[in-house]
Amino acid sequence: QESKLWGGRFAEATDGLVELFNASVGFDQRLAEQDIRGSLAHVAMLGQVGILTPEEVAQIQEGLQGILAEVRAGTFEWRLDREDVHMNVEAALRDRIGPVAGKLHTARSRNDQVAVDFRLFTKEAALDLADRTRALRAVMVREAEKHLASDGREAVILPGYTHLQVAQPILLSHWFMAYAAMLERDEGRFRDAAERMDESPLGSSALAGTPWPIDRHATAEALGFARPTANSLDGVGSRDFALEFLSAAAILGAHLSRLSEELILYSTFEFGFLTLPDSHTTGSSIMPQKKNPDVAELARGKAGRLFGNLMGLLTVVKGTPLAYNKDLQEDKEGVFDSYDTLSIVLRLYADMLPKSVWHADVTKAAAARGFSTATDLADFLAREGVPFREAHEVVGGLVGLASRSGRQLWELEDAELRAAHPLLGADVARSLTVEESVKSRQSFGGTAPERVREAVAAAKAALS
Ligand code: ARG
Repeated sequence: QESKLWGGRFAEATDGLVELFNASVGFDQRLAEQDIRGSLAHVAMLGQVGILTPEEVAQIQEGLQGILAEVRAGTFEWRLDREDVHMNVEAALRDRIGPVAGKLHTARSRNDQVAVDFRLFTKEAALDLADRTRALRAVMVREAEKHLASDGREAVILPGYTHLQVAQPILLSHWFMAYAAMLERDEGRFRDAAERMDESPLGSSALAGTPWPIDRHATAEALGFARPTANSLDGVGSRDFALEFLSAAAILGAHLSRLSEELILYSTFEFGFLTLPDSHTTGSSIMPQKKNPDVAELARGKAGRLFGNLMGLLTVVKGTPLAYNKDLQEDKEGVFDSYDTLSIVLRLYADMLPKSVWHADVTKAAAARGFSTATDLADFLAREGVPFREAHEVVGGLVGLASRSGRQLWELEDAELRAAHPLLGADVARSLTVEESVKSRQSFGGTAPERVREAVAAAKAALS
């Protein structure tokens, strides 16, 4: 058995089960590119400040490039007994170029390496998810525009709900724009997090900094970071950058889960508001009629792991004293998982939504049911000078009457309406269409077609 890179003080070999338990190479090999980039920046700096000779630097750089090529080609041999990505790369470097490889670790620690590798990864992941979130947001805005009135086609009207009870009619486009607004903030959260984590911990060394005359600004710049972290304990001991990433991911996951729930519900036979595309649904092995919204259900269910990944790392971090503790090795899998989960769900939704077909006749009929224009009737009375609370009471009585007799508000008799309030009549009740209701909601941010059109135009401008 090969001796450990840290084996100097040990007399007995590592227990086999300990080796298995301790090793992270099974998952942190995903950081190989970042690890080698970090080493290349570090060794170049060691040369610049005169710690290594130009020949040593050149040998190490060449060796690292060779390893990078093997990693990319998938031919690199990952060894469990070499524990993690950092020591796999370093030991492979020694196999290639001999003892001079040992000079790479001058003025550096593995704590440094893992902190810098993982920040590089998480920053890239945050920016990638920001881009993908933006792409889905653009799809939402396009869908919103598609369902506005155009060449003879009416705008699609949807029942708006509170408590999942019919509330007031809205435009389907308004609904899409609500999700576009959530996604805009989700994108922003990823970008904010990426900006805050844009600091290089490299050179914090084990925890206290180093006596070597290193240039942390140079390595930070070479790795594309805005600056080095300002405190060495914080640099190697903090994982709030990963927590922020996981938190932005969890919030986005919650939004996608709400969207999924609505699509699942609205595509049921009972609602019939939309048909999901065959390409994004599945059948049943026993029931021939089935078309199941598996993609939407999984997207809803994935919220569980996205929340779990955040909660998991919060719990790992909370009891650890400064600076590095091996507990922190538990930071990576959740981040990888949240990243992978969201990058696929965001892509699936960007494909599925434009292929889904909304049934405007069904949604409009549903929007008219459930006394959805009762507020409009109360507003009518209030506009005539009746205090709104009184108007609310009057219309509530009419809803009760209509509901008991199985009628809609516009089916009430002229006499019944007048009895409820002298200002009311059949003409008023009949004018209570869902179109009029939607059209009247002109307040800024409201569902009136003009407002939604403005919102779509503003979003398109922001996205272009
Ligand atoms: N594999 C370790 C991790 O993922 C790397 C850092 C190890 N540092 C140490 N002092 N044991 O956190």
